Amino acid sequence: MRVLFAASEVYPLLKTGGLGDVAHSLPDALVGIGVDVRLAVPGYREIMAQAEALRVLGWVHLAGGREARILEGRHPAISSPLWIVDLPDLFDRSGLPYTDQNGHSWHDNPARFIYFCEACAALALDALELDWSADVVHANDWQTGALPAFLALHASRPRTLFTIHNIAYDCQFDFGTFKALHLPAHWWSVDHGEFYDRFSMLKCGLVSSDLITTVSPRYAEEIRQPEFGYGYASILEQQAHKLSGIINGIDNATWDPQSDPHLVAHYHVGGSIGSAKRANRDALLRAMGAADDALAFDGPLIGSVGRMVYQKGIDLLLDIVPQMVTQSDARFAIIGSGEPGLEQQLRALTADYPGRVFHFIGYSETLAHQLEAGCDMFAMPSRYEPCGLNQMYSLRYGTPPIVRDTGGLADTVVDASPQNLADGTANGFVFADATAESLQQALLRALELFREPKQWMKLAKTGMRADFGWRNSAAQYLALYQQ
Ligand code: ADP
Ligand code: GLC
Repeated sequence: MRVLFAASEVYPLLKTGGLGDVAHSLPDALVGIGVDVRLAVPGYREIMAQAEALRVLGWVHLAGGREARILEGRHPAISSPLWIVDLPDLFDRSGLPYTDQNGHSWHDNPARFIYFCEACAALALDALELDWSADVVHANDWQTGALPAFLALHASRPRTLFTIHNIAYDCQFDFGTFKALHLPAHWWSVDHGEFYDRFSMLKCGLVSSDLITTVSPRYAEEIRQPEFGYGYASILEQQAHKLSGIINGIDNATWDPQSDPHLVAHYHVGGSIGSAKRANRDALLRAMGAADDALAFDGPLIGSVGRMVYQKGIDLLLDIVPQMVTQSDARFAIIGSGEPGLEQQLRALTADYPGRVFHFIGYSETLAHQLEAGCDMFAMPSRYEPCGLNQMYSLRYGTPPIVRDTGGLADTVVDASPQNLADGTANGFVFADATAESLQQALLRALELFREPKQWMKLAKTGMRADFGWRNSAAQYLALYQQ
């Protein structure tokens, strides 16, 4: 089985969120079950600088007389060869993959990712005559939405699978841009990529792929409803026969409290975890600027890591922090970056409640690992969450998650109801409404159980014992490829 896996980011080379984690760990798991994977990525500056053993495979011709240089590279953390689409005027720049330094989408994103897709399609069809053509092409999110469509132009072609990691993100452009990109005229139609008089890269992927998956069974249901579908619900309803949900796995090697190089103390489910967690907590709080007297205070520490945007419900959490720290002994450690207003609110909370609220605004892989290990519980009040990885990292690190009943959160976290506690299935706390009150009730329930160490340890260890690795999910992808 030969699979060309195309993604616009991949950990550890370049990552903005969970897509980068999945583009690393899913291909890795597929290789582990015998799939021959090529990982196609854009030639961003960071990738060109970090890829090793680079060699030129050739040039592919693109529309409008463009040529893309294709390189093959390797990276010690990535098990499949990287096929890098080198288009320096589009990808060799500083800034983030999709946005400039000010957080605005790159104005030439349509060209960047249309040409990336066109080059990937040529590679899948062995345009470079490398004696490797794909049986299946696996595309991910809007950045690769045109890839199944380019392949559909060929009678003899690999089958295509399109995975939605987040339906709220898309790249849409007008007819002038469509013409300038030399796209096939029939793509501008309501049965294809045309969407309210714009061209939608996401819709293009949905309508032109053979199969669609999303990253949890619950989200596969949700996106067929207007509330979660971001305008695509009816399209997905029409395509329901080819849509399914496969829960993401996590990379058990990168996220392992027994060997994680970012931790100051290691632990595992078979031993006592309390003292190691305390050591990690102190290291975390120190790194977040805590003074000695703050380390001496012994209230439960509630953590959060994530993009500070509407999706994540971080505003709900920030809104209840004042009440929580004045009416209980809870403390908060929050890592993230995003909307300036939310960042500002977080800074103000840290200033107002010294020793009780800690933050890091920015991106830090090390702190994210330390937080998973050092906190007592983890809050993830997402309004929607296609899968979510952090709740699974939390479970593995013995840090019970408090999550909203949506998407992949609902599929991975089992509420600490009396019944679930009694039968040993509970691993966290689940609440229903995307409101501050509902979140607060769940946090209070968690704090109450935390005061019963035996019960709490049982809950934490249930999460640690579960296997959230890729084995099952990779097998489900392979079954779809075979189909
Ligand atoms: P999403 O992809 O929607 O952002 P996920 O939970 O799937 O959400 O994945 C987020 C990933 O990005 C996790 O690996 C998480 O640890 C990481 N992450 C998010 N924000 C930060 C940050 N500020 N610092 C470090 N890691 C972060
Ligand atoms: C998206 C989603 C997140 C998911 C990740 C990886 O960024 O927001 O829920 O875990 O993709 O699939």
